[in-house]
Amino acid sequence: MQGTQETNTTYAAHSQELVLVEANRAFLDRQSLGHVRCFLDLACGPGVIGEMLVGLSPAAHLHGIDSDPAHIELATERFRTLGYDVRSGHDLTSDVVNGRPVVTFAVGSADDLPFPEAVFDCVTITNAIHLLPDKDRLIQGIARVLRPGGFLGFNSAFYAGTLVEGTHAFYHEWIKSATIRINEIDGRLKAEGKPGIKRVRGTTRKAFQNPWLSRDEWIALLERHGLGAIDVHERALDLDGSFFASIGAYSGLAETLLSGYPIDVACEVLQSTAEPALRTVNRTTVPRNWLEVWARKT
Ligand SMILES: C[S@@+](CC[C@H](N)C(=O)[O-])C[C@H]1O[C@@H](n2cnc3c(N)ncnc32)[C@H](O)[C@@H]1O
Repeated sequence: MQGTQETNTTYAAHSQELVLVEANRAFLDRQSLGHVRCFLDLACGPGVIGEMLVGLSPAAHLHGIDSDPAHIELATERFRTLGYDVRSGHDLTSDVVNGRPVVTFAVGSADDLPFPEAVFDCVTITNAIHLLPDKDRLIQGIARVLRPGGFLGFNSAFYAGTLVEGTHAFYHEWIKSATIRINEIDGRLKAEGKPGIKRVRGTTRKAFQNPWLSRDEWIALLERHGLGAIDVHERALDLDGSFFASIGAYSGLAETLLSGYPIDVACEVLQSTAEPALRTVNRTTVPRNWLEVWARKT
């Protein structure tokens, strides 16, 4: 740890932000999912969405995949605490233990699905689809594992149209003050005779390497793979300092916003500068749009 404080860099804290929890729930509620018997939740994170999904269809089996082993561990713990038998790996099961359908979690990539064809009634990927570099590969894989008539649902705050006019000043101020804070920490470490903070390009994700698709580009992409958009919605959220501080502390965003800096430092400075940056631009909240899409396999 090179900064000044310990930061939890998983998505766990941010996934509990009330505004996000409510938005995710409202997104899932746009589709009737009570008939689903087999969910696949891609990029499942710490399992908050999975818990909502089995709440909507308690008889359903849930399979969750995430590329981060720490998130798979958190999701596993969450479901064990809820009383589920949780198994690890990609083997799908119809077992029911203590009256609850068995849940499975696996570390893996959302664009590499080792399942037979047509096995899931519903695939979800919340707040993550923008992270996948090859969207055609991703959607083709999802379409393959969905049953005919099955649903794909995703939401994202990284698409063309997400940023609201007049809010750029906040993002600019946030990154500027986070960078100043890194320089301060660097100076302090060097003054103490310790190695400073090095920015090494290529050690984390490139800054916003993936193009942000528009709503119409998403619809066309889905159609190319036999998925017809049945509900496309944009949700405006008002994001406060707590929201930006907790997303700043998440390594998945920090490695993009401050690409190349040590992750723990990037997370710490983005977390600690979010609220001051809001005050500097005389705001208490920043509006931002979420794209929500439900599609059906034809
Ligand atoms: C912003 S979090 C969203 C988590 C969860 N879907 C939610 O909405 O609460 C993004 C998640 O995507 C995961 N992720 C990133 N790239 C991935 C990939 N190629 N395959 C699977 N998961 C990925 C991250 O580890 C992280 O858990």
